[in-house]
Amino acid sequence: MAREFSTIGVVGLGTMGAGIAEVLARTGLTVVAVEVDEAGIERGKGHITHSTARALAKGKLDEAAHAEVHSRISYTTELADLADADLVIEAIPESLADKAALFAELDKIVKPEAILASNTSSLSITEIGVHTGRPGKVVGLHFFNPAPVLKLTEIVRTVVTEPDVVADVVEFAKRLGKEPVVMGDRAGFIANALLFGYLNHAVSMYEQKYATREDLDAAMRFGCGYPMGPLALLDLIGLDTAYEILETMYAQSRNRLHAPSPILKQMITAGLLGRKTGRGFYTYD
Ligand code: CAA
Repeated sequence: MAREFSTIGVVGLGTMGAGIAEVLARTGLTVVAVEVDEAGIERGKGHITHSTARALAKGKLDEAAHAEVHSRISYTTELADLADADLVIEAIPESLADKAALFAELDKIVKPEAILASNTSSLSITEIGVHTGRPGKVVGLHFFNPAPVLKLTEIVRTVVTEPDVVADVVEFAKRLGKEPVVMGDRAGFIANALLFGYLNHAVSMYEQKYATREDLDAAMRFGCGYPMGPLALLDLIGLDTAYEILETMYAQSRNRLHAPSPILKQMITAGLLGRKTGRGFYTYD
């Protein structure tokens, strides 16, 4: 029998954390959403409100269900409010030091049987887990952007993750309506390991003025049936996030496909992070 999770903590309400909190609340779970300050909470609430308003407008949620989704999420700046959580999903920025410190703290707060999961895209779950007294209950639970839309969840087990914990998280992902895949702890897991060489190559082609951004994107949309071209997808992911993922994968693989194209760093330094800053390869309203 899979374990029942009813109260779920989400730490970090950026694009991913907010999307995950929405998915959980829409599944009928109680969500305790944690951010570092009030501004972070407001930004996270804004993401969720925008997304559920779209679902309401499209008739995917009725008024009552919409109100219920919002009533299931409580917002706080105190990690101590996660004391009753059965599972905590961390979705803070991609810094190993910050994630390690957070997991060490969460370990002291949550129940001994609670599971700690990271939504990291490429950092080592093993290295995060060893900062807790429960590395057997630490997993990767990686969602894809936009989390309310994309079905995949990658569930990452380390050499010490307990098999029951993996099985319970797999069942949990199915309950969320997601398609779980399970893998070992390797940078990029499955999807990013395959995706980012391609995205990075597209950036190099753009940098070398091989073709325009529109033509690079159109080639993959209309020629290969991808929902978005690579440069538009990088704007969705966020250039800073993409850079971190490439660097982590390059450090592990030394595969030059993963050596970040220089223009990525230049764009990040100039504040062109993609949709979230209104400009990346394209400009957004
Ligand atoms: N939040 C919630 N719902 C959203 C959304 C968002 N941010 N963006 C789009 N949607 C919903 C829309 O409401 C719409 O729903 P219906 O079909 O029920 O009406 C549906 O998604 C399709 O949206 P649109 O019609 O507006 O636009 P689209 O058909 O072009 O789809 C897209 C948009 C879903 C983003 C699609 O282009 C897509 O799937 N792109 C590829 C995204 C991708 O590859 N993501 C993976 C990134 S890698 C990653 O996330 C891993 C990592 O670690 C970095």
